[in-house]
Amino acid sequence: MQDFRTVAVAAAQQAGKLIADAYRTEFRVDYKKGGTTNLVTEVDRRAEAAIIESLNKAFPDHQILAEEGGEGSRQQSAYKWIVDPLDGTTNFAHGFPVFCVSIGLEVEGRVVLGVVYDPLRQELFEAGAGKGAFLNGERLRVSPAAALDKALLVTGFAYDQEGRRRNLKHFSEFAMRAQGIRRTGSAAIDLCYVASGRVDGFWELALYPWDVAAGSLIVAEAGGRVTDFAGNDFSIYTGNIVASNGSVHQAMVDVLAGK
Ligand code: IPD
Ligand code: CA
Ligand code: CA
Repeated sequence: MQDFRTVAVAAAQQAGKLIADAYRTEFRVDYKKGGTTNLVTEVDRRAEAAIIESLNKAFPDHQILAEEGGEGSRQQSAYKWIVDPLDGTTNFAHGFPVFCVSIGLEVEGRVVLGVVYDPLRQELFEAGAGKGAFLNGERLRVSPAAALDKALLVTGFAYDQEGRRRNLKHFSEFAMRAQGIRRTGSAAIDLCYVASGRVDGFWELALYPWDVAAGSLIVAEAGGRVTDFAGNDFSIYTGNIVASNGSVHQAMVDVLAGK
């Protein structure tokens, strides 16, 4: 059997090339579930099909959970690949240059491998459980920022109106207390930027497993902390996430609790 990491990295880079080649060309854009904010392009679908083909070929017995609905040949397995073929679709569709491919592997309910590839910057973020986190082969460490007023934070907004409204309250509170706030438009990139110390903390609500599976492991393996909004152990299935360098974590959880 082929090595999990090698297959995941090759699949992410192949899909990344497909996405970068299609960037700023003409492609079909559809709206999901009749909404006006949640887009999917034909490039998302093509990238997903390419990733699934690679994973199925190497690991025909594994399960696959992918955002655009593609599946592996098996419905149940101890091995589950979790795929966001294009994280940052709205950016991609507008020609805003921040998006990536995210591939995670869960084994018996635990994420053990995460690969995030930014094809425009050719940045490959990766982590293996217990093996550390890396950017293009260089070891990653979270930032040393010790307090919220010295921290640069990043967040994202859900597609649904209610989720957006709820996060605006958190956004305005953090805007008053942090040194600065950014919104990249890609949750997987946000997590990798926490891991690499480019930002000090990230929070978002109503995310899906494919947004966070790879990135949450990358943060943890870079020495950061990842929890839900209440500061409890993180699960990729709960939707709400706080990821930080550890030092500003409790302060972020307090803000989210309205303290
Ligand atoms: C979205 C991005 C965005 C986040 C949204 C996600 P998509 O994923 O990660 O940053 O704010 O909640 O749904 O749709 O571009 O794959
Ligand atoms: Ca996503
Ligand atoms: Ca996506």
